[in-house]
Amino acid sequence: MHDQVFNFNYCTPTKVLFGKDSIKGLPAEMAPFGKRVLLVYGGGSIKRSGLYDEVKRLLQDFEIFELPGVEPNPRITSVREGGRICREQHIDMVLAVGGGSVLDCSKVICDAPFYDGDPWDLVLDSSKITKALPLFTVLTLAATGSEYDPAAVISNLETNEKIGVLSPHNYPKVSVLDPTYTLTVSKRQTAAGSADIMSHIFEQYFVDGSCMVSEGLSESILRTVIKFAKIAYEDGNNYTARANLMWASSLACNGICQVGSEPGAWVCHAIEHELSAYYDITHGEGLALLTPVIMRYTLNDKTVKRYAYFAHRVFDLPLNDDLYVTARAGIEALEAFFASIGLPKTLRDVGITSKDKFDAMAEHACKCFPLHQAFVPLSPAQVREILEQSF
Ligand code: NZQ
Ligand code: ZN
Repeated sequence: MHDQVFNFNYCTPTKVLFGKDSIKGLPAEMAPFGKRVLLVYGGGSIKRSGLYDEVKRLLQDFEIFELPGVEPNPRITSVREGGRICREQHIDMVLAVGGGSVLDCSKVICDAPFYDGDPWDLVLDSSKITKALPLFTVLTLAATGSEYDPAAVISNLETNEKIGVLSPHNYPKVSVLDPTYTLTVSKRQTAAGSADIMSHIFEQYFVDGSCMVSEGLSESILRTVIKFAKIAYEDGNNYTARANLMWASSLACNGICQVGSEPGAWVCHAIEHELSAYYDITHGEGLALLTPVIMRYTLNDKTVKRYAYFAHRVFDLPLNDDLYVTARAGIEALEAFFASIGLPKTLRDVGITSKDKFDAMAEHACKCFPLHQAFVPLSPAQVREILEQSF
């Protein structure tokens, strides 16, 4: 919370086609890049919704190859398979149709043909990503922001690792954001996606030095999600609610809300990735149950003002003379909001009934993310305590 604006470089090169029927613009965007397309999608939602047929119809002048079955928490095995198809079939570009998992998997598939070793090396070391096939996306779930960012998160079941990789080569060329395609998203995924959008903001907003522009953007996105997640949860067919969530998801994770401020350490994501790596839970649900615990654990004289102003500006709670009162009320309001859209509260609610991986998870979280530089710096022992308190 200061008037300063830190130096930054910023570029999001992705072109966004937003709104009903915006997919009609896709063939013209893809045409300059060739004819041979790898179509990547998930477990079947796009077939049930009719989107698969629509894409095939629109792209009848292209030669389409397919990689179906990309899993939620996408596996490195799917990346390897996609990379193999791209090489063998001399694919010109990749079209990802689905949620964040399909998009993330497709990003590393695009990188794989330009690297001679195992694509897992690319996830572990982004400097090995030197070139990528052009990526086009059609988003079907508002959550991750993958449609508008350079990140991909890939899971390796053999090593119990879920790792995020960022590369400027991984921005999609064009993303089609038609909220109509999210009308079929279940209540559960709607809630989880909304928690994910909010968490992306929290990770950048709960920092020492945030400039006024960042704060305003962040608070506006949080208010938007709180308003429209509830509506979309209760009425999945509400286009306006879906449209607001979709645009919020894209802006929450592409850096625009953070530039000019101090970077965050992404504490909640660090811990959640460990939960998913070991227990394959839904990303947004893990974030939702961890967030209030982390906020309470880190509430101190340094953070109280930020948490209190969050409560005041986002939940319209009155600013008490004792900022701790307001901060605690804000955490309770957030918890109540999450509960109102059916999100879980504890690790046991998402099926994690043992503490035996806590030490390994805490160590690994601190290795993958700079948690020692967080708003409240955290050691592995403290991350373990957060896991205990989330149990
Ligand atoms: O596989 P299908 O059949 O498509 O079903 C999916 C899946 O079961 C379903 N779904 C998607 N769109 C639907 C739909 N069901 C009905 N109608 C639709 N329109 O929803 C389920 C979950 O899909 P998934 O893609 O896994 O969800 P999400 O978009 O939340 O992605 C989660 C993944 O993204 C990573 C997460 O860690 C997780 O692996 N993240 C990626 C980030 C990034 N690239 O910047 C940042 C995030 O923090 C996050 O870590
Ligand atoms: Zn996330």
